[in-house]
Formats: sequence, C-alpha cells, structure tokens
Amino acid sequence: MSAPNIETIVSLAKRRGFVYPSSEIYGGLGSSWDYGPMGIELYNNVKQAWWRWMVYERDDIEGLDSSIILNRLVWKYSGHEDTFSDPLVDCKECNSRFRADKLEQEYRIENNIPWSVAFVPPAPFDDIKCRNCGEINWTDERPFNLMFRTHVGATAEDDPDALVYLRPETAQGIFINFLNVLNTSRRKLPFGVAQIGKSFRNEVTPGNFIFRTREFEQMEMEYFVKPGEDESAHQEWIDACNQWFQSIGISQANLRLYEQPKEELAHYAKRTVDIQYRFFPERKEEERQWDELMGIANRTDFDLKTHSKKPEDAEGKRLNPDSTEDLSYFDEQTKQRFYPYVIEPAAGVNRTVLALLMDAYSEKTNDKGETRVILKLHHSMAPIKVAVLPLAKNKPEIVGMAKAIKRSLQPVLRAVYDDTGGIGKLYARQDEIGTPFCVTVDHQSLEDEAVTVRDRDSWEQERVKVADLATHLRQRFVLEPGQ
Ligand code: GAP
Repeated sequence: MSAPNIETIVSLAKRRGFVYPSSEIYGGLGSSWDYGPMGIELYNNVKQAWWRWMVYERDDIEGLDSSIILNRLVWKYSGHEDTFSDPLVDCKECNSRFRADKLEQEYRIENNIPWSVAFVPPAPFDDIKCRNCGEINWTDERPFNLMFRTHVGATAEDDPDALVYLRPETAQGIFINFLNVLNTSRRKLPFGVAQIGKSFRNEVTPGNFIFRTREFEQMEMEYFVKPGEDESAHQEWIDACNQWFQSIGISQANLRLYEQPKEELAHYAKRTVDIQYRFFPERKEEERQWDELMGIANRTDFDLKTHSKKPEDAEGKRLNPDSTEDLSYFDEQTKQRFYPYVIEPAAGVNRTVLALLMDAYSEKTNDKGETRVILKLHHSMAPIKVAVLPLAKNKPEIVGMAKAIKRSLQPVLRAVYDDTGGIGKLYARQDEIGTPFCVTVDHQSLEDEAVTVRDRDSWEQERVKVADLATHLRQRFVLEPGQ
C-alpha cells in the first residue's frame, strides 16, 4: 500500500472522532481544528510520553508552566517584535498572498538551485508563477509580524501601554524564569527546563490540516550548558530526539535530519537541525515530501544575555535598561561568572499527532475481499487500549459479564465497553482507532469463564480465562514510554 496522504487522514480523523474542523456549524474558521474523543487521548498520550521521557526519566530536567501572555518587554528584548515576521508578497492579478521565502524555497527545489547560489532581488520573482492564477506580477516583499496582539485590562483598543502578545513560542517563559528555577531547584550546569503549552502565530499560509495552524501546542526544553560544551550537547539532543520519535512508533524510514542553511537560521541560532517527517509522500520531488516535525537549536547565550539587566556587550548593543535581573550563572568550581549557552529541542504536539496518524495508517483486505483500515499505533499511543465487546447485546448475562470485565480492567488500562453494532462492525471500528486488543464475551464465556482476545494487527484470536486476562494483556502490551 502506498503511504497515505494528508487527505486520507483528514477523512479518517473526522469519521472516527480524532479531529474535527473547528466552528463547523458557523462555516468553520480557517485552519482551526478541534480534537475529538479519540484525538484528545492520542494528543495527551504524546504529551505524557514526552514529559515522562524528558522530565521523569532523566535527572537533570525540571518542569515549568509559564503564562501565555507575558510582559511586552519580553518580546521586545527577545527580538520577536522586530524580527518575528514572514516576508509577504501579493499577486497583483488575483490578490493571493504568499510567503516569499516558501515560494523561493519551492522554486529552488523545482529548479535544482542550491541556497549557495544567491539571487539578486527581485529575482526569482521574475520567474515564479502565482500558485493560484499562474501569472507573474508580484508586489514588493514586505515583513508581516506573526505575533497575535491583544490588550490587557479595560482600556482602549489602541492604547499602546496595554498592548500585549499571545506568546509565539513557550521558550521565553523559560528564559525569564531561569533564575527562579535555578535558585529553587539548586541546580548546577548542565540542567534543563521543560514546558508544554499553547503557542500562537498569525501564520500567513496555514494549512495542510493540523500541520500548520495559528494556534498549536509546543513541547520545548531549554538545556543550559557551559559555553564550549554546547556543540556536543547539541549533537546528543539531536540523536536523543530522533530516537524518541522512533520509540513512540514513528518509522525511521519516514524521519530524517535536516541541517538548516545559514539563510534559514532564526536570529538567535548558531546551528539548528530539524527532524523532518515525510508529511507529503504524494509530491513528485523527493525534497518537497519532507517538512519539519521538530527543531533542535543551539541558541547560544543570546536569550539569557538579552534579558539581563547588564549584558556584557562591548559595543553596548542589546543593552537592557528595563530588566531588573542579571541572568548570568556563577560557577562555584571555577569561580567564574558567565551566561550559559542553551540547546533547545522544540517539537509540536499537533505535528507529532499528524505524523503518528500518517505512520500508523494501513489497509488490510479481509476474507470477503473488503478493505479495512487499521491504525497500527504504538500501544502506548493508542487512545483506547482494550475494547470489551459482547457478542449478544440482548443477553443480560453476557452484557453483565462484559461490563464487569471492562470495569476490572479500567484501573490498569484505558478500556471501553461497546455494544453498538454487530461484532464485525465493532472490530472494524476498533481497528480504525488503533485499539490493540478486543476482548469478546460470548455464550460459551458464561460456561467456561473465558473470553476471546483479538489482536488488532494480525486479527488472530486466542481464548483466555477471565481470571488470567489482566496478566495476559499486561504481558502482551508494549506500553513504554506512554504509560
Ligand atoms: N522555540 C523555538 C521554536 O518555536 P519553531 O521551529 O518555530 O521553534 C518548534 O517551532 C515546533 O513547533 C515546530 O517544529 C513545529 O513542530 C511546531 N510549530 C511551529 N509552528 C507551528 C504551526 N504554525 N502549527 C503547528 N505547529 C507548529
């Protein structure tokens, strides 16, 4: 079977309650999505797995949850007010609006032009056709700041003193709490601070389902190291993150590392390596099939310095008279004071959910020649771990036994009881949402106190005594790193 494209996943996601278009009854809201009963379980499994791996299983990472709305000065000194923008161009023929950098990137890939070959502006826009109408008639490029603006308090909408932003990354909430965490946790370098939370970007061209949205959730960790130890720590985190995606069930063949060229680097980054996933397998050019799942950046000492009261910058640049703290670190051993370097693994929850759905999607033909969808999610990611199904819903003894089994499993595993259809339909539904095991209670169960355990991937069935069921399932489950 060829790899599914995003459209196949959109349809499965809606049909089975993973993801719905948001505000649908009012005509929707461009590129906004709501997570349904199955979606939220998968979503939470991703976050729990990441938190467990990042915070619980290591000894050098603390957790944090900072505010979404921060003092505006945070974004002034972080550089986001000045530089967190996308270059825009409009087609003068049809008024479609595009990100100039994305158009250029696609043009380079289609025409095999490496980044080392520089264009003289306005080229290549003399050659790029509008993706909408096919004409070549562009406006000049101009920056568009991606931060969402709002106002705090009961004040006039245009009061500049009340202007604040919804955070475009969770990272800054960590930097401004560096001293708080350092002092309360009594940490020494190297150590990290992890945070999971919503971020907001007024994206110019959102789209591709949950791949790029204006509201999304990030899993970020800032790892503070001594200057000079940053490059090796960076490499370690690149390898570890790549491994982590595989540990939650994403196949290695659909992951690759991408070294960001200098032209793409964010204003704070010395080096950034992206972990890309093959989100667009249907695209002709191999290079365009891949896109970012997570970024792992070496942010140097940029952030701690820029937020410090007295940054030691010989030229007086980035001088910060507004901050009340110096975010430097004193090394007791060497008796030196310096600004730690920061390695930042930053992943998107939504893109991870999309990659998991795409990677797990498979089709299988049953003995009647019908094609069935099976979502072969890693057991730890599956929204439901076990479904308990009665073969006859009009037989109270069978229903009672099935419900009792569901209740007995629930404390250990996410289990559901379902009697809303014939057994074939119930199995098909559980396969499509990725439930690893179905437990069926039939007439014989009343006699022999045994049930049938059906495996999602092989469709093989095994008879198991009810008394042994929990142990049997525990042995067959591969739950790390999710639960
Ligand atoms: N603090 C660094 C930072 O925010 P980023 O590469 O801009 O880096 C990190 O974002 C991750 O957040 C991305 O790899 C992606 O998974 C996710 N992400 C960023 N923008 C997104 C969007 N508009 N929609 C969905 N996910 C997004």
